[in-house]
Amino acid sequence: MTKLTLRSPAKINLFLRILGKRPDGYHELASLFQAVDLCDTLEFSLSDRDHLTCSDKTLPTDSSNLILKAAELYRRKTGLQSGLKVNLHKKIPIQGGLGGGSSNAATTLWAFNALNNNLVPLNDLTRWASEIGSDTSFFFSNGTAYCTGRGEQVLNQTPLDNRHFWIVKLPQGISTPQVYKSLDLDQLAMRDPLIALESFSTSKPHYFNDLEEAAYKVMPSLKTVQSKLQDAGLKPILSGSGSSFFCIGEGAMPSLEGCESFRVRTLKRESSSWYA
Ligand code: C5P
Repeated sequence: MTKLTLRSPAKINLFLRILGKRPDGYHELASLFQAVDLCDTLEFSLSDRDHLTCSDKTLPTDSSNLILKAAELYRRKTGLQSGLKVNLHKKIPIQGGLGGGSSNAATTLWAFNALNNNLVPLNDLTRWASEIGSDTSFFFSNGTAYCTGRGEQVLNQTPLDNRHFWIVKLPQGISTPQVYKSLDLDQLAMRDPLIALESFSTSKPHYFNDLEEAAYKVMPSLKTVQSKLQDAGLKPILSGSGSSFFCIGEGAMPSLEGCESFRVRTLKRESSSWYA
């Protein structure tokens, strides 16, 4: 039986600009997404029915898991009948703004397609991925992409090679809808996302996240951790809606009670393979 083992990377948002609220309730955003080498590992094989196992026993393994939603979506779109057996080894923290669930879903679409002799072109998988979540399509990029719309419009950028960051995840997760609900659009600086994008090809990149103040309102302990990281000489930037920061700067990582920290580097995807 063919078995496929793939890495499923986390993402960070090098900058995240919120442009407004849309009639469908989502927010229009412009963000530079970057894949990093903090990865889950997934093993896939075709089977007569879907079956998911996971190293993290707190994660649901029923049809609410995005992996099984992706398998169901692939079947619905292609008309294929086969099931998928998946074993997930979880390393990416949950509810951390690191895109772990979305990445697992994208990896599943890729794997199901690879196990079916690449029946579906990449463009279609990318489009289908947006039905699972706003940041799922990003993972079909080359690993560095400017994403707009609700996050699902993906434009590849020149890969940012070998940049290192610390990622710090607070012990509690945060609810993305709650952060968006706490957002005060009138308080945001009117930064031009295209200028921010251009800054990443200079020596002075503009890192920022428009969701930061909203996330501090929902989880005040984020502000405390941000201050401690700044005191250590690091520049922490919230990833997505939190509850993780990625840090730039050369300071040493301070000890932060209950937090997990990871040293990561940027990751890219070559066009005909998944993340190596
Ligand atoms: O698309 P996804 O399921 O990841 O989004 C989770 C929630 O985050 C949405 O229900 C919405 O409340 C919020 N969101 C938003 N605007 C976006 C992306 C997400 O308001 N562009």
